[in-house]
Amino acid sequence: MADLTLTGVAKSYGEVDVLRDINLEIKAGELIVFVGPSGCGKSTLLRMIAGLERITGGDLTIDGVRVNDMPPAQRGIAMVFQSYALYPHMTVRQNMEFALKIARKSRAEIDAAVNKAAEILQLTPYLDRLPKALSGGQRQRVAIGRAIVRDPKVYLFDEPLSNLDAALRVATRIEIAQLKEAMPDRTMIYVTHDQVEAMTLASRIVVLADKGIAQVGTPLELYERPQNEFVAQFIGSPQMNLLAGEVVETGDVTTVKLQDGGVARSAVPTRPEDLGLTVNIGVRPEDLTLTEAEGLFTGTVEIVEALGEVTLLYFGNEPGAPHMIAKLPGIHADLRRSRVTLGAAPEKVHLFHAGQSLLYR
Ligand SMILES: Nc1ncnc2c1ncn2[C@@H]1O[C@H](COP(=O)(O)OP(=O)(O)OP(=O)(O)O)[C@@H](O)[C@H]1O
Ligand SMILES: [Mg+2]
Repeated sequence: MADLTLTGVAKSYGEVDVLRDINLEIKAGELIVFVGPSGCGKSTLLRMIAGLERITGGDLTIDGVRVNDMPPAQRGIAMVFQSYALYPHMTVRQNMEFALKIARKSRAEIDAAVNKAAEILQLTPYLDRLPKALSGGQRQRVAIGRAIVRDPKVYLFDEPLSNLDAALRVATRIEIAQLKEAMPDRTMIYVTHDQVEAMTLASRIVVLADKGIAQVGTPLELYERPQNEFVAQFIGSPQMNLLAGEVVETGDVTTVKLQDGGVARSAVPTRPEDLGLTVNIGVRPEDLTLTEAEGLFTGTVEIVEALGEVTLLYFGNEPGAPHMIAKLPGIHADLRRSRVTLGAAPEKVHLFHAGQSLLYR
């Protein structure tokens, strides 16, 4: 069991600020996922929590104890890296028990810990094999097993699946979800670039951007109620469409006249003084539908990507035209070069002013 608290945590390398004023409370048993663009400081934050990187500002506490200056080995944390080098000349069992031998645990304790971890990870049949006789996914599980045997309070994973192929990623992702379920009181922090991993594994997602936290929330909170345009476009794939316009009618439902001629109605309420406000409407590709009525966008389909279960329509690849992507269920290969109108239900139309969601005023 471990609660983690980050208060004003910062990191700079000399003059260069990497992270500023990170405030985050993580409850025991949560699985927190860090996402954000490459170079935004995800690994740095993880390494600071592990004690592998010095914290240059603020405080980190684990179960109420300030650990800024505590050495990594005493923090009760185990970290699984993207490049998990296993010892090639040692069997799976020897790889997994290595840290416990160093810690001079008894043979009985070591065997119990390794056997239990092997069972959780379904590695029991492979304990006497060398790493070279394992698949990539099995090797990755051994790397996770090395963390489990140490029975840490907190697990840190830095993109643990990124060098697996697509099918193995899915299988290993499900294993990690099951692993978490088998250890409900263990706290996990997981860094990934993969939208699906973030959405499916996280109890809460932390979106990092611009040296700080852009938003923290459950996966569905971030998807349904993004606080700003950055999170709106970062969560979800293909990303949310943004179109510029002006508020022409306020009230429980807001009407926006769009620069490109369409009209959008949003269930985000506005006040009379918002009349004339310049806003961006946001609508996810999967929330757009073809319509015969007045829509929020009319354009020519430039590219069709038929993926089988869904079809992606791309608009506005010619210079100056607004770029839009729609995702329709089913197959619509015949729409290429046709002129269509897109609409969306008011509940699916987000409103942003100066980059911030109008829902959150
Ligand atoms: N020793 C260092 N000196 C100066 N800057 C550094 C140093 N180490 C890392 N950085 C900078 O810190 C920033 C954050 O790096 P970090 O590795 O945490 O990013 P990340 O979010 O994990 O990226 P990725 O998704 O590519 O793994 C980067 O801009 C990097 O250039
Ligand atoms: Mg990284």
